[in-house]
Amino acid sequence: LIYPVILSGGAGTRLWPLSRPDTPKQFLTLLGTRTMMQETVARTADRAGFAAPLVVSGERHVALVARQIREAGSEAAAIFLEPEGRNTAGAIALAAYWLAERDAEALMLVMPSDHAIADVESFHRAIAAARPAAEAGRLVTFGIRPTHAETGYGYIEVGGALPDMRDVHHVVAFVEKPPLEKARALIGTGRHCWNGGIFLFSARAYVAELERLAPDVADACRAATRAAQDDGDYIRPDAAAFAACPSISIDYAIMEKTDRAAVVPVDMGWSDVGSWQALWALKERDGQDSICEGAAIDMDGHGNLVIVDGGPPVGTMGMRDCVIVSTASGVLVMPRERSGDIRALAEAMLKRL
Ligand code: GDD
Ligand code: MG
Repeated sequence: LIYPVILSGGAGTRLWPLSRPDTPKQFLTLLGTRTMMQETVARTADRAGFAAPLVVSGERHVALVARQIREAGSEAAAIFLEPEGRNTAGAIALAAYWLAERDAEALMLVMPSDHAIADVESFHRAIAAARPAAEAGRLVTFGIRPTHAETGYGYIEVGGALPDMRDVHHVVAFVEKPPLEKARALIGTGRHCWNGGIFLFSARAYVAELERLAPDVADACRAATRAAQDDGDYIRPDAAAFAACPSISIDYAIMEKTDRAAVVPVDMGWSDVGSWQALWALKERDGQDSICEGAAIDMDGHGNLVIVDGGPPVGTMGMRDCVIVSTASGVLVMPRERSGDIRALAEAMLKRL
């Protein structure tokens, strides 16, 4: 069986003021009618192919997680509540040690809770292609065709196909979040894809690589899982043990170092909806290339994203390529092309106001 492992630990600054620390992006309805978490759950809802999901989230979001999964008409096999996030290597390790005790050959399909995938059929085909490689002990990642030199992603140099596996390729090199110049150079080779942040591997293979390549993470998470409190609804890793886990992502801790990586390139309309610009590009726009939601009038404008959600009504006139978002906890006004720079502003607003 394949166990979906859904990671829900985002801080939620890049879509401020809609996403905030108490309601990060995965809990918002940004595209369609369900939240991103619910969309993620729905992608693996077919119990013929997938077990009920394991969800790894923070104590602070317990109520939101439980409600959203229930409202999606689903049930989790386990919900892990981290006292504090220790990044993805540790979050995945909690699920891996728990599964390894029950079914070491079980496959884990690790998925961020806040990504959009337009073509779910292609996603399922890619999972089917990855499966034999994962069963053979590979750490399989899914490669997205890059469109620009984005510095926030991992870059995978795609090698030849694995023997007897046409769609699964060797990973020649994995470079996490290269600086801009390096990202440009990697794109220029034509041999790289972006790491989609979605992985398929057995619990056994992940634990083995973790113990070899990141023993501090392994020790802390093994101990935190063994001493966890399980009240039937939630699994709470032992706080003291988990606090010793270094805060590092799977990408730096494992994927850059392992020789067991493989990649399945897939074209599935993937987006991590990482900015207002990305959201603008994904949503359906009007004749003026604008998006206007809620109590807002965008007059004689072009290329704007105007959202009113809980804040005062907004009227704009003659604005071009702007983002304007009005909520009860803040109002954002900026040129759309500055979407990538929002972090500093969001953090300053969250700290001061
Ligand atoms: N439970 C839990 N605990 N989840 C976490 C934690 C944590 O401490 N930290 C991050 N997550 C979740 C996030 O909520 C998100 O769903 C997922 O794990 C990935 O974390 P991000 O922080 O969003 O990673 P990233 O976007 O910087 O980079 C990753 O994704 C890129 C694609 O979007 C990497 O895998 C890159 O290589 C990749 O290109
Ligand atoms: Mg991300």
